[in-house]
Amino acid sequence: MQAASRRTSVLRREAVLATVPVAVAALLAAAGPASASTVGGSGAGDPYFPLSGNGGYHVGHYDLTLRYDTTSRHLDGTAVLSARATQRLTRFDLDLKGLKVTRVTVDGRTARFSRNGQELVVTPSRALAKGREFHVAVSYNGTPGPVTDPDGSADGWIPTDDGAFVAGEPQGAMTWFPANSHPKDKSSYDFTITVPKGRTAVANGVLVGQHTSAGRTTFRWRQSEPMAAYLATATVGKFTVQQYTTRDGIKVYNAVDPREANGSASVLKELPSVLDWESRLFGPYPFRSAGAIVDHAPSVGYALETQGRPIYDSAPDLSTLVHESAHQWFGDSVSLTAWKDIWLNEGFATYAEWLYSEQHGGDSAQKTFDALYAKPAGDALWAYPPGDPGSGKNIFGEPVYARGAMALHELRGAVGDTVFFRILRAWAGEHRYGHGTTAQFVKLAEGQSGVDLGSLFQTWLYKKGKP
Ligand code: ARG
Ligand code: ZN
Repeated sequence: MQAASRRTSVLRREAVLATVPVAVAALLAAAGPASASTVGGSGAGDPYFPLSGNGGYHVGHYDLTLRYDTTSRHLDGTAVLSARATQRLTRFDLDLKGLKVTRVTVDGRTARFSRNGQELVVTPSRALAKGREFHVAVSYNGTPGPVTDPDGSADGWIPTDDGAFVAGEPQGAMTWFPANSHPKDKSSYDFTITVPKGRTAVANGVLVGQHTSAGRTTFRWRQSEPMAAYLATATVGKFTVQQYTTRDGIKVYNAVDPREANGSASVLKELPSVLDWESRLFGPYPFRSAGAIVDHAPSVGYALETQGRPIYDSAPDLSTLVHESAHQWFGDSVSLTAWKDIWLNEGFATYAEWLYSEQHGGDSAQKTFDALYAKPAGDALWAYPPGDPGSGKNIFGEPVYARGAMALHELRGAVGDTVFFRILRAWAGEHRYGHGTTAQFVKLAEGQSGVDLGSLFQTWLYKKGKP
């Protein structure tokens, strides 16, 4: 399935000592991040989304306690982040858009905070030494809503007629919890989500508890493997739930909106065999939990590979299930360090669709490649190169998905099947639960094959226009 069908400041300065003349203070501030600043950066340094993520600390764990009223659409939240300072910090930012913050503590002490666009600026009562572990607790509430991405799509907390469809790629995590919201930072998560009785709250990982009292049900979820904030979900709705454990011991939890039950049943039945097939191709499935959230939210227009449990805005077809499942290896377990490298997610997941078709009686990958290659030079497929989409507006475009997959097909042609599949497994294995860049992928492919692949990747990833 092609991408298209899946989709349809101000710089704050540190408080200046009254004795320092303003001009000197401005000079000091202008020295910028190279100076030994004790202020955590407002972004993770990603040119496509400059304010996504933050500098100066790493979050090891998020403990999110949420209560959502599906009638008033009011969210009450407490987020406790266990973090480590990577520099001395007199101040640091979290990403949070909208919502009202009522209290912030750092290691139990009340901290000053202010809001500046999507930055929640926290000033702990005592500076945090470099290397120091600390806990930030943020109490907040309000009526969450989505953020509009540069490509016009909605992402984040998207209210539906029976709850909310929650998907955060690339920047929507900040619409429902305070986060270090860039895939560079990966963390484990605990979720405790309370919703009206009769509704189900589905997050990532394993369901570790569920109880109902006084007309409300609380669901507790645990995601123990590292996860990027954009892959977190806390989707709420009226769902039919199916739970089982696969032969490999993976805990499956499917939540299906009854309106999508007929349309999704036969595809969902294939999930264990798809994961099994992908495990043989890419190496062991990275997570202890799996499943699907099939919501009825047709206006969303896309599916997302929420970690362990992809979310679909309606009943998926098999190709889409294969695609989101492949992301568990490529995107979720092996994560981006910059959105520019998005082809490492979407090109790989798209190529998994081609491979699935080829190995299950459908078109060969070569035939899929040829049909795309036949498109004229002016086609949108060639609008920009997948390795350098140019801006956040282009990261989910056809060149990233389809030409990204074509690049992998070219690689396969150059090194042969045996080495090609060894490269895919080595990529997923060596970077498991971590990160990978395009340069590292090229290096790995050259190392595994002994072939100089510089010009192949130059052509397919970076050359403007039809190669
Ligand atoms: N990564 C998703 C996929 O599997 C697409 C997410 C699109 N997100 C968006 N905000 N448009 O293809
Ligand atoms: Zn994808």
